[in-house]
Amino acid sequence: MATLYVILLALHNLNRWLVLLTGLWALARTLPGLGGARPWTPQDRRPVAAFMGTLHLQVVLGLLLYAFLGMQGAPVFAGAPRPGFQWEHLGLGVLAAVFATLASILSRRAATDPARFRAAALWSGLALLTVLAAIPWWRPLVRLFGM
Ligand code: HEM
Repeated sequence: MATLYVILLALHNLNRWLVLLTGLWALARTLPGLGGARPWTPQDRRPVAAFMGTLHLQVVLGLLLYAFLGMQGAPVFAGAPRPGFQWEHLGLGVLAAVFATLASILSRRAATDPARFRAAALWSGLALLTVLAAIPWWRPLVRLFGM
């Protein structure tokens, strides 16, 4: 059981970097489109969808971590600098995933190319800020499966 926790925690730790990279990629693709000068292409959709995907995976891994810690009666985020950080983390993590989902859906539904860039950049930007606020930066920056 303890090993499964360590594996999930390492995956959740490492996927955080994929979340951040795909978020930056989404902004790098969509912010320059805000001027309205270029058409929306499939290359603009790819990072927005990837950002949503990595965040959905992060939420699933996080829920599994909560379930395992709960089953063992172990505290979540023991020793966190703020009491209640676990609820902050859960709430902000889910909110970030909702924002990234809105970036994908609303950019798909928008009627014009400038509106697609606006929706993708706005909601991806909000999602990335929320991710930065959710991350427990005092934990290891990289955790491998050995520990
Ligand atoms: C924005 C998305 C999220 C990011 C970037 C993120 C990132 C992280 C990081 C970096 C850690 C520390 C890992 C380590 O110690 O090696 C962590 C721990 C954890 N996260 Fe997340 N997380 C996110 C969303 C969530 C969500 C939505 C949940 C719950 C549904 C969750 C549940 C947990 C749990 C249970 C832990 C372990 C706490 C412990 O070991 O006491 N996370 N998260």
